[in-house]
Amino acid sequence: MRIAVVGSGYVGLVAGACFADLGHDVILVDNDHSKLTALRNGQVPIHEKFLPELLTRHRGNRLTFSDDLKEAVRLSAAIFVAVGTPPTESGEADLSYVESVAREISGGVEEYKVVVEKSTVPVYTSEWVRKIILRSGTDPDLFDVASNPEFLREGTAVTDFLFPDRIVIGCDSERSAAILREIYAPLTEGTYYRRSDAIPRPDRAMIPPPIIVTSSKSAELIKHASNAFLAMKISFINAVASVCESVGANVNQVVHGIGTDSRIGRRFLNPGIGYGGSCFPKDVMAFRAVARESGYDFRLLDEVMHINEDQRQRFLRKVRSALWTLRGKNLGVLGLAFKGGTDDIRESPAIFIVQALIQEGSKITAYDPAAMPRTQELIPSGLTFANSPYEAAHGADALLILTEWEEFANLDLNRLRQELKYPIIIDGRNLYDSEGMAAEGFSYYSVGRAASYPDGVPAALFKNGKKA
Ligand code: UDX
Repeated sequence: MRIAVVGSGYVGLVAGACFADLGHDVILVDNDHSKLTALRNGQVPIHEKFLPELLTRHRGNRLTFSDDLKEAVRLSAAIFVAVGTPPTESGEADLSYVESVAREISGGVEEYKVVVEKSTVPVYTSEWVRKIILRSGTDPDLFDVASNPEFLREGTAVTDFLFPDRIVIGCDSERSAAILREIYAPLTEGTYYRRSDAIPRPDRAMIPPPIIVTSSKSAELIKHASNAFLAMKISFINAVASVCESVGANVNQVVHGIGTDSRIGRRFLNPGIGYGGSCFPKDVMAFRAVARESGYDFRLLDEVMHINEDQRQRFLRKVRSALWTLRGKNLGVLGLAFKGGTDDIRESPAIFIVQALIQEGSKITAYDPAAMPRTQELIPSGLTFANSPYEAAHGADALLILTEWEEFANLDLNRLRQELKYPIIIDGRNLYDSEGMAAEGFSYYSVGRAASYPDGVPAALFKNGKKA
């Protein structure tokens, strides 16, 4: 099938590359010429596993790049809209990009098309897109608007797209549903998974994935409600972690105990310094705004956001209580990205914490496997970058773990202890076992668990693992 994907951001680029891998002919449309040139020249603008392989496989054949939206619409049976929907000051999604794309699409509709929202948008957007296209004089029989929310996570976006838990298509006509079913048929009928060159199957994949057909409004709500629910799970466990700290319980044990209830589930119950990224913060806020506008006061979501902000402050208090004063202290930082496996620092709690510590006069040496170039653009001075976790720890008064990169969970603790001036680790992601760290000679602070000290004595009294 001929498909146009509008917008070459995370969702658009991954969707375009994956649709091509399913066997479709894809035109990826963007009005940013530097982006298009970079993509045509073989550059991969985001750090995403398997994306370079897919772009190399399909660039110039099944995947082409264009700035001519009207022509792309003319050539395609389905047009996926994956442009940005940034938050406005009041937290609503700014739909001006969606609107201008809808207006432009109408100029290319000469025969039947299905226009598919793929960006996360508030309920009623598909209705508005339809109105805008109609207002531009398009024949109502020549198009339908559908909603096909995307649930991919950054870092595992390609795998999430090709091995989804479910595919949701919100269609208000059988004709548009048929086209979307056909686009996803290689996944829902399983033919893609039998190919020898298919992207490797992840552990938990359900093959073939179910396709859920709903109204477009329900599909729009499914996306917002899914993200809000996951954010709520994280805030819930972070609140439980705070109670654990007060009463001396261990949040890991609590998570194990509640997560094994299959009605609750273990996933997204990792306590830490809160959620960040381009989706959860924005989508919870937007869903809150959508609910308010529709007459429902969804205060639960206020609390989800409040707990999330508080989590960063609690962590900063933990750093202060471990080190007493912050001015002039040398701190090693592991992790800048909003989560492991990505170079994205948007709404990253790690960046928030680093900036707060710099403001308080600490000297930071940070290491992140992927996010340092982006951080350097955002914070051009006042921050030193290291080439490894050990270099970040070298001579530091304490080491802070702020992102859950896998490699940070497997550090050489002996070496780390030797590098640090004081063997103090403040772990915002609970990557290590508390008692084990004390046995290794560290004063170890984490989230929702009691701090642990070598010989029960805080390591400020130790130097390089020996009593100072
Ligand atoms: C999220 C959704 O998971 C995805 O379905 C949607 O399409 C886009 O938003 P993403 O933002 O890529 O994906 O990251 P995700 O893996 O969900 O993590 C979001 C944030 O929550 C990160 O900051 C992460 O560190 C944090 N998190 C996640 C926790 O603090 N605890 C957890 O248990 C899980």
